[in-house]
Amino acid sequence: MDDITIARALHVLAVVHWIGGVTLVTLVILPAIPRMAEPAGRLPLFEAIEGRFSSQARLSVTLAGLTGFYMTHRLGAWDRFADPGFWWMHAMVLVWAVFTGMLFVAEPLFLHAWVRRRADRDPVGAFTFIRWAHAALLTVSLLTVGAAVLGAHGMLY
Ligand code: HEM
Repeated sequence: MDDITIARALHVLAVVHWIGGVTLVTLVILPAIPRMAEPAGRLPLFEAIEGRFSSQARLSVTLAGLTGFYMTHRLGAWDRFADPGFWWMHAMVLVWAVFTGMLFVAEPLFLHAWVRRRADRDPVGAFTFIRWAHAALLTVSLLTVGAAVLGAHGMLY
């Protein structure tokens, strides 16, 4: 049983680092940038700050996934994915899959370049899009954190 508890602690630590970072970016850094730079300078400033977090987030997202799948295996909980009552398990995997896809596939392959092209045409619109995208991801992530704690402690079934 101890290994499951250790995996749970690592899972929560990874989620704290990752979603905590998304919270700081969304609620503190993104709102501050328009006061620090003219429209054309906002995206480069944001990329310079957020780039450091993205590389750290790749590690915490990976750790959250590994510990999550490990717990699912050790708890013998794969059948939860066939049960809509365990929607909070689906929500965790969905949030994880979205961030994994963004950090490891979309950002390096095309998202970065697409946002830059958009910012060249319309820097204010591109920055607004980045703020809305972060706010949406943060909202879904925080709802998932809350639901996962309630679900893991038997309050959603
Ligand atoms: C591959 C993705 C993931 C898998 C397979 C996974 C799996 C699990 C499992 C099996 C548990 C333990 C459930 C139980 O004790 O009944 C758990 C707990 C938890 N997970 Fe995930 N998870 C994943 C991603 C995430 C993400 C993205 C978040 C946050 C947005 C998250 C937040 C939590 C939280 C807060 C708990 C509750 C810890 C506790 O109070 O004991 N997980 N996860």
